[in-house]
Amino acid sequence: MPPTPKDRLAVALDLPSEHEAMNLVDRLGNTCRWFKVGMELYYAAGNNIVKKLHDRGFNIFLDLKLHDIPNTVAGAVRSATEAGASLLTIHAMGGRAMMTAAAEAASAPGSPRLLAVTVLTSMDANELAGIGITVSPADQVLRLAKVAQASGIDGMVCSPEEVAMLRKQTGPDTLLVIPGIRPAGAAIGDQKRIATPAQAIADGASMLVVGRPITRAADPAAAVQAILAEIEQAQLSPAPK
Ligand code: C5P
Repeated sequence: MPPTPKDRLAVALDLPSEHEAMNLVDRLGNTCRWFKVGMELYYAAGNNIVKKLHDRGFNIFLDLKLHDIPNTVAGAVRSATEAGASLLTIHAMGGRAMMTAAAEAASAPGSPRLLAVTVLTSMDANELAGIGITVSPADQVLRLAKVAQASGIDGMVCSPEEVAMLRKQTGPDTLLVIPGIRPAGAAIGDQKRIATPAQAIADGASMLVVGRPITRAADPAAAVQAILAEIEQAQLSPAPK
């Protein structure tokens, strides 16, 4: 069965406490199916919040962006598996040995699928140059994606600007998860490489991650509904480039 719009949207619960996160979850009701738990919430609420969301029937995308030596990352993958997450991120910048160790750890039954974060959507060419990476963000994403694929990683996180290129490179089956999504008129905040939901879907995104345009909306459930409608529309008739 093809994925429905609900399968293709993860709401980023970037909130400082379990209480605030569960309040938002309650306000969203059953409008969404996937929640992303990132560092802010996970460091405050731990596996408890993951288990709570899991028990309520939601899918959890645990965005911990693991980046350490191979042995430590493999152990972290095993610990995260116990919480019940379906997706877990690691940094592709950790390199092939680290990603291979993570993929091996995630081959155990019940493990999450792994996504390699390529270049953060808040970084542009200037930011990359500042840390000594002088190729373009697109070239760096492509290089990291190739290493991730060769290491046995299931999918990648990249910005909307690279999704079309990466879809061509990886073929139709790789999971491409895209943050930096801004519906027309939404505040951009600290993101630099952005697109609308419709454009990202048209370019080949498997799943969109949306945080502040939903979490800071006056009516978060309505914001989710509007994004789902845009995804559905894009599935029916791809947006013009
Ligand atoms: O609020 P906003 O929609 O910008 O949130 C985007 C989410 O996606 C944040 O939780 C951020 O940590 C995450 N993310 C990102 N860029 C990446 C990987 C994850 O913005 N490359």
